[in-house]
Amino acid sequence: MKADELRQKYLDYFQSMGHVAIASAPLIPEHDPTVLFTTAGMQPLVAFFLDNKHPLGERITNFQKCIRTGDIDEVGDTTHHTFFEMMGYWSLGDYFKKEAIEMTFEFLTAVLKLPLSHLAFTCFSGDENAPKDEDAAQAWLDLGVPEERIAFLGKDDNWWGPAGESGPCGPSTEIYYWSSVEEPPQQFDPEDGRWVEIGNDVLIEYEKTKEGKFKPLKKKSIDFGGGFERTLAVMNGLNDNYMTELFLPLIKKIEKITKQKYVGNEKSFRVIADHVKASVFILGDERGAVPSNVDQGYILRRFIRRAIRHLRSLGVAIEKIDLTPFVKIVVDIYGEDYTLLLEKKEFIVEELKKEQEQFKRTLEKGLNQFKKMSSGKKIDGKDAFLLFQSYGFPIEMTEELAAEKKITVDKVGFNVEYEKHQELSRVGAEKKFKGGLSDASEETTKLHTATHLLNEALRRVLKENIAQRGSNITAERLRFDFNFERKLTAEELAAIEKEVNDVIAAGMEVIKEEMELKKALKSGAHGEFGTKYPEKVSVYSVGDYSKEICMGPHVGNTSVLGAFKIKKESSSSAGVRRIKAILE
Ligand code: ALA
Repeated sequence: MKADELRQKYLDYFQSMGHVAIASAPLIPEHDPTVLFTTAGMQPLVAFFLDNKHPLGERITNFQKCIRTGDIDEVGDTTHHTFFEMMGYWSLGDYFKKEAIEMTFEFLTAVLKLPLSHLAFTCFSGDENAPKDEDAAQAWLDLGVPEERIAFLGKDDNWWGPAGESGPCGPSTEIYYWSSVEEPPQQFDPEDGRWVEIGNDVLIEYEKTKEGKFKPLKKKSIDFGGGFERTLAVMNGLNDNYMTELFLPLIKKIEKITKQKYVGNEKSFRVIADHVKASVFILGDERGAVPSNVDQGYILRRFIRRAIRHLRSLGVAIEKIDLTPFVKIVVDIYGEDYTLLLEKKEFIVEELKKEQEQFKRTLEKGLNQFKKMSSGKKIDGKDAFLLFQSYGFPIEMTEELAAEKKITVDKVGFNVEYEKHQELSRVGAEKKFKGGLSDASEETTKLHTATHLLNEALRRVLKENIAQRGSNITAERLRFDFNFERKLTAEELAAIEKEVNDVIAAGMEVIKEEMELKKALKSGAHGEFGTKYPEKVSVYSVGDYSKEICMGPHVGNTSVLGAFKIKKESSSSAGVRRIKAILE
């Protein structure tokens, strides 16, 4: 079965059962700062499991792009990935356990025609928070599942959620498929790796509170998640997800580039294929990140650098390593379903290129350093930090290299060095921030306020997630860099200019307040992307129009600014645009 056919069959069936299909949410969560990536289809829907009503009703279905960094060490086997797609369907306070189990069963056995002889199920065995789930087991039995094919397991296996630190959660019932060509045994043994989990119905009955308590929910819901890659493999009689059309073109390309065979080198091939795919999706996401040393950017950096390291270990000379041809392959596989990848293709290639060129410059030297450092039993913290700081080795890469040599890394020592360094750069940042605008002539002060207005106008006219990437002010003009993927149209530029001039004409007051950085960010004040701010900052508000963390100085009222005029709009670097503007 083709991937597209499976997609269609899934959505068709659940739509026929009254569910409304919605689009995948971004990979980078919009509403949950406690997690870096969307790890399940239910995550963007959390609010609707509580008291809120979903605008499209109580039955929803979709395909959700997910990243699970927690699974990074499992990548290398036949079924785990960092990036994967989850087939989801939800009852948001509508039907519950029995109906959900019936639908899942009908989809698997009637729509996909998977033989009952190859299916098995697990249910929750109960603990102090929730009882043994006899009802779920009974529902499977009623559908004709033999008793020997139902196992009861504890919280580690049969409980799901919450997605972040708190929120909706509950016992689950998992579906397993016998993936081997051998005859399936009568008795289901969940420990036997030939039984592959292909999905689970989470029976959402509780809310885990911030204090760690499990509070029963009045509104009971269903959260189903099915592994798309695994189900596709099963449908094609494959016991290796990497042999499905969602990975095979990548595997073939790696064979071509490395002149090595997949068989015998599976781990490295799978790591490369998985990580380049995840990287393309992060860079090509609605709320995407670029490589950096923090948060999502750091995960992306790790994926890219690890893929490069594995290509090298497969024998590709460093100067020949190039991840960019993989972009086209990933876009060919997924572009129709995730069209933003098509739009952002050039940006993805550019960012990958930048990151790989940077790492390629230091990789060989770093590996030589590592060799010298690894003559003993342990890499000490200072050495691990040197590899990180001077050679760009994420600590996890040093750990992986060390594990291959059967030695250890002093991670605590590394963290100490890291903290010391952070402290030094924080002090530096504070000094820089205090410096502010040294040349505070009347013209630069006015242009400075105009910069805040422009920043906000961009967000309002173009899109919300625009952030400052750089600013430079002389007595004659302002120059402002911000994240945006394409050239602005003449209409957009005119709208931005008008927006700023309207605020100037409205004569809004500019007010300065001192506050804790945390409070400033919480209040919605914007800062420059990637800047380290001191703990206490000043926040400038222009009426109720704009609010920014900034050292000033600024004018007292926008009415003194004069006429705002954009002189030029151009590209500054990949994904970053630059505007030059004046006040007349
Ligand atoms: N949210 C459930 C999972 O991630 C379906 O497995």
